[in-house]
Amino acid sequence: MTALTKTAGLSLEPRQFQELRDIIYTKTGIFFAENKVYLLENRLSRRIRELGMESFDAYIRHIRAQTSNSEEFHQIYNAVTINETFFFRFQSQLEAFRGLLTKLIVAKNAQGRKKIKIWSAASSTGEELYTISIILHETLGPRLRDWNIELIGTDISHRALALAKEAIYSKNSFRGSMTDVQKQRHFEELEQGRFKVRDDIRNQVIFRYLNLNDSLEIRKFRDIDYVFCRNVMIYFDDEMKKRVLRSVYGVMNHGGYYFLGEAESLHGISSSFKVEHFSGAFAYKKE
Ligand SMILES: C[S@@+](CC[C@H](N)C(=O)[O-])C[C@H]1O[C@@H](n2cnc3c(N)ncnc32)[C@H](O)[C@@H]1O
Repeated sequence: MTALTKTAGLSLEPRQFQELRDIIYTKTGIFFAENKVYLLENRLSRRIRELGMESFDAYIRHIRAQTSNSEEFHQIYNAVTINETFFFRFQSQLEAFRGLLTKLIVAKNAQGRKKIKIWSAASSTGEELYTISIILHETLGPRLRDWNIELIGTDISHRALALAKEAIYSKNSFRGSMTDVQKQRHFEELEQGRFKVRDDIRNQVIFRYLNLNDSLEIRKFRDIDYVFCRNVMIYFDDEMKKRVLRSVYGVMNHGGYYFLGEAESLHGISSSFKVEHFSGAFAYKKE
């Protein structure tokens, strides 16, 4: 690295990396392996400069004096999380979900319990939960008004949550399998290639802060039919994965399903769920 580029950032020494990594792990369950030194160095040195500090040591002293919910920790969560996501991200899993949802609607209808609760547990900038809302609209159609639907998106990043609530997206968010018809029906075109989620889809969802490391907060949830906890466990170590799974299992309905990202699995992590295979996807059932 040239002297010129180095002045833009600060150097993170191995000892400082380990201290920061341990602090972040304790608060969030996110584990940074040794090959992520540059990521932490890059993302946090910007914040340190903003604060007018000169070194990682000064910053570490600063955050050691703060609680998990302090403004500074939220700045760290915003800086270190990877918020990559897009609409209709995993078609085969969504088709499986559509089929399960159709069956659930029939069963709940027969029992006279017209209530469905779905949780996107690492919702990032919102594309996943809006996708679910679109599928619900398509599945229930005009019957939707007879149902009590709760679609909840949570994330540790306030920055991502603010974007989710704003519900304005550009090209990058549309690289999944959403059709043009769906896009026209559920989005309003704004200027400069930006699209806003229409009110009927948007009003169906709520977004709020939740750290998956906070089992007490998770236990406040109740009666969840479907949990989408996609592409977040990859950042956790096994201990954290088990902790999250235990808490989430407890707040799900029997017969409910847990959906992971396509590169993730519960193998060796939890045997409480039963894995079910669908065409090109699988999901975990709470029996
Ligand atoms: C790659 S995104 C996944 C978005 C979406 N689920 C998907 O699959 O398209 C991972 C998200 O997990 C969130 N995250 C990371 N650690 C978290 C934690 N401890 N509690 C809650 N959210 C967390 C990040 O802020 C980020 O928005």
